[in-house]
Amino acid sequence: MSERVPTTNFSASWTRVDQTSDPSFYPRLLDATRAQGLDQARRQPDAVFGPLELRAGLRVLDVGCGTGEYLRIMAPLVAPGPAVGIDVSATLIAHAQQGAAADETNVSFRVGDAYDLPFPDATFDRIVATQVLLHLADPWRAIAEMRRVLAPGGLLSIGEWDWDSTCLAVTDRELGRRFVHLLCDQMHNGLIVRELPWQLTGHRFTHVVVTPQIRLSRELDAAYTWLIEPVTHELVRTGALTSEEGGRLLDDLRERADTGRYFLARTYYSVLATPC
Ligand SMILES: C[S@@+](CC[C@H](N)C(=O)[O-])C[C@H]1O[C@@H](n2cnc3c(N)ncnc32)[C@H](O)[C@@H]1O
Repeated sequence: MSERVPTTNFSASWTRVDQTSDPSFYPRLLDATRAQGLDQARRQPDAVFGPLELRAGLRVLDVGCGTGEYLRIMAPLVAPGPAVGIDVSATLIAHAQQGAAADETNVSFRVGDAYDLPFPDATFDRIVATQVLLHLADPWRAIAEMRRVLAPGGLLSIGEWDWDSTCLAVTDRELGRRFVHLLCDQMHNGLIVRELPWQLTGHRFTHVVVTPQIRLSRELDAAYTWLIEPVTHELVRTGALTSEEGGRLLDDLRERADTGRYFLARTYYSVLATPC
């Protein structure tokens, strides 16, 4: 059995990692669920970060950087420009600093809040925020802050899943549909990508480019172990699913995997925008 999500829902936990019963759970979760993407970014940094048009001397900020692994891959592409990671969790920042101890000197990490970025206006040429806005109570306030510290001609890059369009093959169709909606509602803003384009325009951004990418799992990979299974346990714990439903759902998914019938497809959206 996988590890349990320590508190009541994903977003509540992600905004207060240091106050949860087991803060060390979160770097483990990020390490496990980002491993495949990080591997690709390390092998093909130009392909993965191409849309960001990184080049030497640019100043990069990663808001809600978590363990900082993506920023560490970007840093050599902008050196000697600074690559700065900020996160509200001291646990994750300590983890990031430890990981980057032997890296290039242009990488740094500090504790800070997306709602109140500790930088003057127009400090950065590139700002990335990956899977952060979905957890925030007021994501538009964070967007306004990122707009403030982004320099003219800069680029903002936001990456989020669209949670309610998760496509999961479940033999009991109604149970599968209910699970997807409940999964989405574990996130504070599980539908945020649908609102991002017009919100960015309203926050003085232009040239908004939205790029969807589907990720398909045909076996019980990290998404099952670290998301589907622990969220199912959490939904049973909170009474959103009965224990019979939760057990039946997981048995069905495992049985499907054993017989080559497991199918999980999720859509990840990259949203790029420049300040007006
Ligand atoms: C799902 S993790 C994503 C981490 C990283 N961006 C990645 O994709 O690997 C969400 C991150 O947002 C951080 N976070 C939550 N609320 C924040 C806030 N108000 N300001 C800055 N970071 C925040 C969490 O501590 C966590 O590291």
